[in-house]
Amino acid sequence: MRADRPRLSPGGAAALLGELFGVAADDARDLGSERDQAFLVFSCGSPVAVLKVSNPAEDPEVLDMESAAARHVHHVDPGLGVALPWTVPGRPDTYRAEWSEGACWVRAYDVLAGTGRVSATTLDDRALRAWGSTSARLGRALRGFTHPKAHRTMPWDVQHTARARDLLGHIPDDAERAAVERVVDRFEEVVAPAWPRLRTQVVHGDLTVDNALTAADGTVSGIVDFGDMSHATLLTDLAPLLESLVCGRTGEEMFRAARLVLDGYEQVTPLEPEEVDLLAEVWAARSALTIAISEWRVAQGLEDPVFARRYNAPAAATIAGLEAVGWDGARRRLGGRRVEAPTAGLARRRDAVFGPATEPLSYDEPLHVASAEGVWITDVAGRRYLDCYNNVPCVGHAHPRVTAAISRQARRINTHTRYLSEPAVELAERLVASCPPGLDTVLFVNSGSEANDLAWRLARAATGRDGVLCTDFAYHGLTEAVAAVSPEAWLDGRGPDHVETWTPPDPYRGTALGEESFAAALERLRARGHEPAAVYLDPLLTSDGVVDLDPAHVRALHRRAKAAGALWIADEVQAGHGRTGEALWAFSRFGIEPDFVTLGKPMGNGHPVAAVITRSDLVRATVGRTVIFSTFGGNPVSAAAALAVLDVIDDERVLDRVRHTGETLRAALRALADRHPAIGDVRGAGLAVGVEIVHPGGTRPDRATAVAVRDGLRGRGVLVGTTARAGNVLKIRPPLAFTDREVPVLVDALDAALAEQTGR
Ligand SMILES: Cc1ncc(COP(=O)(O)O)c(C=O)c1O
Repeated sequence: MRADRPRLSPGGAAALLGELFGVAADDARDLGSERDQAFLVFSCGSPVAVLKVSNPAEDPEVLDMESAAARHVHHVDPGLGVALPWTVPGRPDTYRAEWSEGACWVRAYDVLAGTGRVSATTLDDRALRAWGSTSARLGRALRGFTHPKAHRTMPWDVQHTARARDLLGHIPDDAERAAVERVVDRFEEVVAPAWPRLRTQVVHGDLTVDNALTAADGTVSGIVDFGDMSHATLLTDLAPLLESLVCGRTGEEMFRAARLVLDGYEQVTPLEPEEVDLLAEVWAARSALTIAISEWRVAQGLEDPVFARRYNAPAAATIAGLEAVGWDGARRRLGGRRVEAPTAGLARRRDAVFGPATEPLSYDEPLHVASAEGVWITDVAGRRYLDCYNNVPCVGHAHPRVTAAISRQARRINTHTRYLSEPAVELAERLVASCPPGLDTVLFVNSGSEANDLAWRLARAATGRDGVLCTDFAYHGLTEAVAAVSPEAWLDGRGPDHVETWTPPDPYRGTALGEESFAAALERLRARGHEPAAVYLDPLLTSDGVVDLDPAHVRALHRRAKAAGALWIADEVQAGHGRTGEALWAFSRFGIEPDFVTLGKPMGNGHPVAAVITRSDLVRATVGRTVIFSTFGGNPVSAAAALAVLDVIDDERVLDRVRHTGETLRAALRALADRHPAIGDVRGAGLAVGVEIVHPGGTRPDRATAVAVRDGLRGRGVLVGTTARAGNVLKIRPPLAFTDREVPVLVDALDAALAEQTGR
């Protein structure tokens, strides 16, 4: 940076082009350059070449690297418009010629169309996005490029921000000096430790309005300088891009413009979360370097002060703009991690906007979540919880296959099933293939409620009837039609006239009411003038207390339902997707063929997607009477998520794991029951487990202890729920990523929580 620029005159440049590259020229214009000299060379008034006279201190191999990089980028992405170097006449593969008088290397480049040094404030939104895309395309084109000389230290690379500390003394303005120092402090504290983790490659390092030509619409028409390239992080590329393009914009407009640039960039190259989180600091760091290096150069007498300082005022304004909203505020404005509001305040805000009818938060002290992976949830304070409650993230929280499938498809296209695209069709085919042969039709919706609602509509249309049966503490959903078959949600204890409930067997208490209760419910329904159209059954009776139904018993009920002309709706919203470990669908354990299978919760591992699988003859009843369409139902992103879930279930042999872990877990819980008489029963299938909490010495449900134990488990870092009408059954229903390793964590915590409550 100290070496003097070469001192060639424009006339000398024109002559040199002829001398070294064999093209006659008669005039040249100095384009201005920090360390080198660059001339636009003319012949008879027309530009014929750009001549670059390198700093005498420049390593010739670095110049060769720049030429090779330009040609590489042109080869990979010709549309980028890179200025290509000329070969020296008679010397193929040689792109530099020696100007012996100046002891410098000289290169000639094609002249590209466009305007140089455009003012960034004139760029419109479209141009800002396009600049972002161009930068990312340039980075992408360089990904496969490597060169030993790329491993060099570029003073303008933000990774060297700490060096600005040594230059502080050269900054005459007190406020600017203090601002640069604060940015350096922040950089060292936050960015430097993260730097070794960031993605690196050979990057251009300086795509700015000074180093590119623009078309009339403000988009990049030519990339003319690889002089700052090095092997560095993607942020090394982004910092000068943001600094240059947002230069001159202040306040919220500064962030809006930056977001547009980033949109363009991420359209080509999505950033990693950590990269996004550091954007504000590296942007500020680049501005700090601009001030520090230019003042140092002025102090050394290397550059004209006015020219050298031309970006210092906007750079200081950028730092001020970032500091004005605070680093957290800047990070959020650039799409990074949000700082969660304090828990109590957030809970109040939630209540205020969600209203009084929404389900309250779990636990007196709400769980304020930050992230999750597999079977572990981390809260905002960094505390980890073993998740034994959430069945939705069935293959594990944030499973990489599912999150990748979602983001890849979202980046490709997301529309609806009125247009043809592969994912929904493939998903439907896979679901049909997973069911008994008659179930040949799939209708996509967005939630378990919608799936059950649609099944009900179809059942009514197919049978022409309006009666329905469900278990006496079932839950099948939210819509008016399915809230009617959700006694768990009948807070006044009464259901509509067309609904009847039956009481499932309770093997623990020795009551086998099931079949008679079912028959009696059918009779009551008919007596009220409602012939049964459908029977809903959650095969695991999750809301009724997690009951392990006897297959023979269910077959008997199914026969009765069929004899009564009712259709059977297997609600697999809870029990499906491998929860029992025996098969993908829990109804298969009963040996029955339902008329409808409804899917939801785990289907997209948390992404909303749901479906009804049924028979084409049942759907036919609605043809011509109505159309079945859900805007989001089966959209390509949801379908991609659901396909990924099915793939993971296969690839990770999830069913085997669930069977094995479920048995291990129940055995361990039963062993615990020997020491804790408050545990009346341990039951369930696969990874759906019910632990019935009773008053010791009998079978009387003990809701208070169950709730206290649930809360005690939370205090010990384990999440479970409670269920059943009496509210006394611990509902253990972890993501299916739960393994033997987690069993003792749960069981030991339960042991301690029970001991705390019962004194044993
Ligand atoms: C068995 C069963 N069916 C249906 C639903 C409704 O699903 P969603 O809340 O996705 O609408 C639920 C929800 O808890 C459920 O447990």
